Amino acid sequence: MPSSAKKKSPASRSVSGVLLAWYDRHARELPWRVGPKARKSGERPDPYAVWLSEIMLQQTTVATVAPRYAEFLARWPDVKAMAAAPLDDILGQWAGLGYYARARNLHKCAVVVAEEHDGVFPDTEEHLRALPGIGAYTAAAIAAIAFDRRAIVIDGNIERVVSRLYEIATPLPAAKEEIKVRLEEIWPAKRSGDFAQGLIDLGAGICRPKAPMCLLCPVSENCAAQKASRQENFPVKVARKAKPTRVGAVFALTNAKGEMLFERRPEKGLLGGMLGLPGTEWKENLNGDVFESAPAKAKWQKTGEATHTFTHFHLTLDVYAGAAPKGFRRSTDQQWIRPDEARLPTVMKKAVKAVEKG
Ligand code: ADE
Repeated sequence: MPSSAKKKSPASRSVSGVLLAWYDRHARELPWRVGPKARKSGERPDPYAVWLSEIMLQQTTVATVAPRYAEFLARWPDVKAMAAAPLDDILGQWAGLGYYARARNLHKCAVVVAEEHDGVFPDTEEHLRALPGIGAYTAAAIAAIAFDRRAIVIDGNIERVVSRLYEIATPLPAAKEEIKVRLEEIWPAKRSGDFAQGLIDLGAGICRPKAPMCLLCPVSENCAAQKASRQENFPVKVARKAKPTRVGAVFALTNAKGEMLFERRPEKGLLGGMLGLPGTEWKENLNGDVFESAPAKAKWQKTGEATHTFTHFHLTLDVYAGAAPKGFRRSTDQQWIRPDEARLPTVMKKAVKAVEKG
């Protein structure tokens, strides 16, 4: 065998070749994607659009992101337009998408690219990584998808695919190193972006967490877990701690115009900078007099509860409603807004709904 043929094992060559051929036939049509056909005929993705989609897709499903992505792109068609927008507009447009630090970093990153890079996204993983809100995954994804750099992209879907292909017994997150080594072996030098998106599509549609559709899988021949009928045993995960529950109370104060009193949450912390109903802190127990945290002395009536699950805890909020007393004056960080016009994070939407139902 000539030495050049030894560089890659036949199995590794077939994983990338077979996956790319499968992607050519089955790539999902996604609003931010330049599909394999268009790409072959020379079309290149807009790095701004790739960046925007990747930030939005962090911790959020394709189905949720697709319509919201289109709204963002229509409102801010390029990075300079986004950089020129007030942060409040970005936060408002982000409402309901969760993990609001992403929206702040989106704006920060747009400003840095507009001001320090003249509106042009850097094209290497290293330089992308230096931008606000761009971590290892996102830098690799943008470098691969927007610039076709050979950057190893690893997200949850890809971890699942690779840990099954090679029956990786080490539990996540420690298995990440081994997954990266395996990917280094099979990642093609050409069509890196298509390969990354092929792996993502395979993980999302076929190599699903439960009941993977191995009969339709292009790389089932290469899959050690499938051969052993142990697909669902991978990836191995360390047992998760149960999420704790926190509790709190919020107060919906209304005025004669049908407006509700909202306040901006502190910049740092959960739902930072978003609008919310005034209320208590969220803790393990509701000790003490919750009405000390109310925005006014009013005849508060409990109208219901709002429950929501965040990354690290479940939350149950007691929701109280009351009419603003005569002479009530809001403080400077509070605003009267009609509840149907307020751009609210999901948990606060649920609280407002509890008032309307109650
Ligand atoms: N999830 C994260 N990045 C994605 C992408 N580019 N396409 C589809 N799903 C994704």
